[in-house]
Amino acid sequence: MDISSPKAVIGANSWGSAAYGKLLRGSSVDDDTIRKAMDTAKEKNLLIFDLAQDYGLGKAQKMIGGFGTEDIYISAKFTPGKKYVPGQVRKSLERDLAEFRREYLDIYWLHLPTDIEKNLAEIIALYNEGRIRHIGISNFNLAECRKAKSILDYAKIPLYGVQNHYSLISREWEQNGVVAWCRENGISFWAWAVLEEGMLTDPRVKTKGSLMKLIFSGKKKKLRPLYAAMDRVGKRHNITIPQVAEAFCANKGIVPICGCRKPYQVEQLYEAVNTTLSPREMRFLEAVADKVNVRILGADMFRFAVKK
Ligand SMILES: NC(=O)c1ccc[n+]([C@@H]2O[C@H](COP(=O)([O-])OP(=O)(O)OC[C@H]3O[C@@H](n4cnc5c(N)ncnc54)[C@H](OP(=O)(O)O)[C@@H]3O)[C@@H](O)[C@H]2O)c1
Repeated sequence: MDISSPKAVIGANSWGSAAYGKLLRGSSVDDDTIRKAMDTAKEKNLLIFDLAQDYGLGKAQKMIGGFGTEDIYISAKFTPGKKYVPGQVRKSLERDLAEFRREYLDIYWLHLPTDIEKNLAEIIALYNEGRIRHIGISNFNLAECRKAKSILDYAKIPLYGVQNHYSLISREWEQNGVVAWCRENGISFWAWAVLEEGMLTDPRVKTKGSLMKLIFSGKKKKLRPLYAAMDRVGKRHNITIPQVAEAFCANKGIVPICGCRKPYQVEQLYEAVNTTLSPREMRFLEAVADKVNVRILGADMFRFAVKK
């Protein structure tokens, strides 16, 4: 598998903790099902798994470490707090490596554009020691992307990727030039929450008793014309509504990170990213998405956590 241009990435935000899965998604999934989802991903050559220390209430990394990570690629993140403490990245990476039971990480992202120079300097030192194979940035705007790239250029290290929120209904990073900038510079653009936390899946999805219910509140009805449009396109390719959301990203040359915790979701993701939508279908989906004009997560939802 070529790590520089993956077809899709498995998001493990709701792995590790049944309680978290239930709180977030309204249903919990047992460890065995998650392990089977991982095995399915390996069979399909979807070998990159995206994690962070807080995923699954702090249990996702340990879970995947327990499953065994020797034949997969790990994408993990340093999440800066509001106060910079020298050595914080090294300390955090050491915890990651212990949890994953690894000597190095394949892709390491600066999760937020906070203290960019200081945090990247630490990440660069770890890269030079061979403990990180590729460096990425997440939730960065265009000016912050340029700044990060110039720091890495100076250190003669390529910027691997930008990981921001993007979906059929949230295309701001495309409209404000970040996606084009990545393309021009040969940098991979990874989209998190392409399914909008489950909102772009099935209009009948049950959200009772979960955080999703709060996120969804009042929006499903407004999204009906989009569900109908996605269904129409999906039927032509024999794929489902969530697969259309995934295929939409892939057909843009954007890498979808999809929250999969069940084998069928991985299988569907594989089919979706191997589906070619016509330019006309892409334009049709965009036009309907623009018309319904529903925002769920918002492109810049983590800005509040960035140190001013
Ligand atoms: N860099 C960042 O700041 C950042 C922030 C957030 C997320 N992320 C990454 O992005 C990943 C994806 O985001 P996410 O997991 O929060 O949300 P998501 O992928 O937008 O949505 C996950 C939801 O979609 C459902 N789903 C997945 N595949 C489906 C299918 N084929 N059919 C029907 N439903 C399907 C899941 O159902 P079930 O409930 O049945 O499992 C779950 O409820 C995360 O895991 C994480 O790796 C990164």
